[in-house]
Amino acid sequence: MSSNEIKQEIYNLVDLLNKYSYKYYVEDISEITDTQYDLLYKKLEKLEEDFPELILKNSPTQRVGDVTLSEFSKVRHTTPMLSLSNTFSKEELKDFDNRIKSTLNIKYLTYICELKIDGLAVSITYKNGDLVSAATRGDGTIGEDVTENIKTIFSIPKELNSKVDIEVRGEVYLPRKSFEILNKKRLENKEPVFANPRNAASGSIRQLDSKITAQRKLSAFIYSMVNSNESTQEDNLINSKKYGLPVNENYKICNNINEVIEYIEYWDKNKANLPYDIDGIVIKVNDVSYQEKLGYTQKSPKWATSFKFPEEELATKLLDIELSVGRTGVVTPVAILEPLTISGSTVSKATLHNKDVIEELEICIGDTVVVKKAGEIIPKITKVIKELRLPNSKPYKFPDYCPSCNSKLIWEKENPFVKCENFDCKEQTIKKIIHFASRDALNIEGLGDKQIISLYENKIISGIIDLYSLNKENLLNMDRMGEKSATNLLNSIENSKISSLDKVIYALGILNVGKKAANIIAKKYENLTNLKEAKLEELIELEDIGHITALSVIEFLSYKKNTDLIDNLIEIGINPTHLHQDKKENIFTNKVVVLTGKLTKLTRNESKSYLENFGAKVTSSVTSKTDYLICGEKTGSKLEKANELNIKILTEEDFINIMKG
Ligand code: IVH
Repeated sequence: MSSNEIKQEIYNLVDLLNKYSYKYYVEDISEITDTQYDLLYKKLEKLEEDFPELILKNSPTQRVGDVTLSEFSKVRHTTPMLSLSNTFSKEELKDFDNRIKSTLNIKYLTYICELKIDGLAVSITYKNGDLVSAATRGDGTIGEDVTENIKTIFSIPKELNSKVDIEVRGEVYLPRKSFEILNKKRLENKEPVFANPRNAASGSIRQLDSKITAQRKLSAFIYSMVNSNESTQEDNLINSKKYGLPVNENYKICNNINEVIEYIEYWDKNKANLPYDIDGIVIKVNDVSYQEKLGYTQKSPKWATSFKFPEEELATKLLDIELSVGRTGVVTPVAILEPLTISGSTVSKATLHNKDVIEELEICIGDTVVVKKAGEIIPKITKVIKELRLPNSKPYKFPDYCPSCNSKLIWEKENPFVKCENFDCKEQTIKKIIHFASRDALNIEGLGDKQIISLYENKIISGIIDLYSLNKENLLNMDRMGEKSATNLLNSIENSKISSLDKVIYALGILNVGKKAANIIAKKYENLTNLKEAKLEELIELEDIGHITALSVIEFLSYKKNTDLIDNLIEIGINPTHLHQDKKENIFTNKVVVLTGKLTKLTRNESKSYLENFGAKVTSSVTSKTDYLICGEKTGSKLEKANELNIKILTEEDFINIMKG
């Protein structure tokens, strides 16, 4: 073959494979078998191997991720990624319609209805037609850079049909078929299965190793181009499609709210036939000039709403009731069910909340029960079908002793939550450590539930603080722990010492103190020493901290073992100071900042994200464009260069003081 022929052959194969993939991933049509596809793919791979100079940018082989990151960097969205208000009934939809028409002072209005794909929101930027970056929604203002992972998704073009600069928003999802295959494989490998396609999609996009994302067969639909100049949402979709972006074709223009309701009813009945999960319908005002007039609230556009399908209820059999001891000692009854599929997920467990719920339902093992589940909510048992009860069944009796440590359970009057108050209870301790190491707490990578259980059972650790005296020898004695994983784990334990105060407070596992409350408490007390002295009156006064949470904090601090834990944490160096971030502007706003040397109080990434929060651009090398150089310990050539260029130099302490405001 001549070089031109080879070029043509490669071009044809790429074109053909991309067309088949588009049909498969976007339109759910298989035009050829998997084996035929693989043959063509291998042929292309071979040609590319022999003629690497002829590899095309849009070749399917180039999607297979080969980038492994140590962590995701944070990205500030140019336009915030908002959410949608929710409606649950026809009445609420009619109110929405009337409100809009009255604001606009018009009688008739055209809506566009779209399927609400149940996945995770992403923002993708194209420059000159090329995919250059992609980010998750995050908190709406700052997301995570998932460019490498997004590039592995077949339905998302790496190159558009036109050389435009655009940012698009859409939903990444896992088709049901891929979800089933993935979970089957995970079961075979004895890995935990994903509860539903949404969790699986979200877990797959947040993989640091893009090779893993590539294997997960994710797909995506784009539902808008940001700041584009189409005059209707429908045109926005049509033009997105023209650029080659995957657009869901099931949208419909509705000329009044009754047509919207018909569309909703149709999809409520037919959603099970779709190859992916939807969790509702999005209703948008079609005309962009009307959208602009209606504007936004802090959180969502006033010109759109989502209709959530009614919760699904199904009956199944109660096989058993297991008791789970939480990290705070609360003993929760968990119903073990004959597995069923409900709202798109497999359910085999449901919470029974507390002893009052059990008593109210008069539940017996073997009963047929009604399970309810919607969206994110943990499935729960709402009813027992007493007519189907087996003869001789006896109501379940809540035990008097802890299932884990056998100490007597505490039943307080008027309090439906039963507690195990043994501080050394095995299950409680393990759960405390798991919570402490979890991602939203001190984020100790490589220390999963299994490792913690094994360390505890082998008596290597007996509490949180023991994590910090682990050594390589301890770890190497564990199953499936090699030299490299042990070193990595010890490093992540060491790195966890530099966590922000809100994370450390959250990690303590105080009852009722979630991430949000931990943040508010961190702002108020600024460090752990002050927190130890917290008073009920002060806590109650904090906005968004309720009476119950305030009491939980005081109760936590009243136990010596808890204050000892705080003292021990401080002693080993976990003693962060809270940085005030209420103000969104300071001297770093719109400035170019470089970090150098080893920072002692904050991690590189924390510092970077603090700076980015204030609108700074953090770069890696010192140039004439650099405004500030922040120096930790052991600085090198960057400091020299900054001095040469007369750039302002700050120590880590200066930096922290500026951040404190
Ligand atoms: S429009 C300002 N259209 O639903 C937000 N959102 O709470 C405009 N979603 O996670 C969003 N399908 O990613 C829109 N056809 C669709 C959608 C859709 C799914 C997701 C979105 C976000 C959530 C909105």
